[in-house]
Amino acid sequence: MSKFPYSDLVLEHFKHPRNVGEIEDPDGKAMEGSPACGDMVSVHIKVDEATKTISDIKFQSYGCASNIATGSIITELAKGKTLEEAKKITWKQASEALGGLPPIKAHCSVLAVEGLRSAIRDYEERHGLVAEKVPTTREVVEKRLKKVMNPLSGLDLVRTKLVSEIEVKDGKVKVVIDLPPGHQFANAIREEVVEKIEPLWDVEEVEVVFTE
Ligand code: FES
Repeated sequence: MSKFPYSDLVLEHFKHPRNVGEIEDPDGKAMEGSPACGDMVSVHIKVDEATKTISDIKFQSYGCASNIATGSIITELAKGKTLEEAKKITWKQASEALGGLPPIKAHCSVLAVEGLRSAIRDYEERHGLVAEKVPTTREVVEKRLKKVMNPLSGLDLVRTKLVSEIEVKDGKVKVVIDLPPGHQFANAIREEVVEKIEPLWDVEEVEVVFTE
């Protein structure tokens, strides 16, 4: 018995996480953050086009032991599965595969599962595979901007009230950020905003404007 509130399996995955890192030129990728604790997890996948199976998967966690262990087990559960199968992996399954997580840590495993689902979604969007074609609205854009972090605070752009305007018109999305164009993270933020919004099926152009 370990003296931690974690199973031996959780500790084993925490100490020796599998599939850690990034994939160069991934087919799908995502970064998810937890509002509960501010931690982040990123998931990268490679997909076999013909069989639509996950041929490779890597994760990086900036979270707690539960999050690292869940990220690790999720990569093991997802590898070799079809996208449809991998989408159905639940945090409960991940937790069970780890021999159980303390209930207070549920959000940590949810975060890793969300990361996997978002990476699959990213792949589907980039390959025109999204079935339900909901038109992009201000709300859709805002939801995505909640995943773009301001590196200074580690909090997202929306929560830190840095998005002063969102305009969606004829396939064109304009986002106005309340930071000076010369801000040290302006370019990084611009790239991330474009990366999050561009895959939307009906978006043709993304313009990111920084206020003077
Ligand atoms: Fe933040 Fe676990 S406490 S991921």
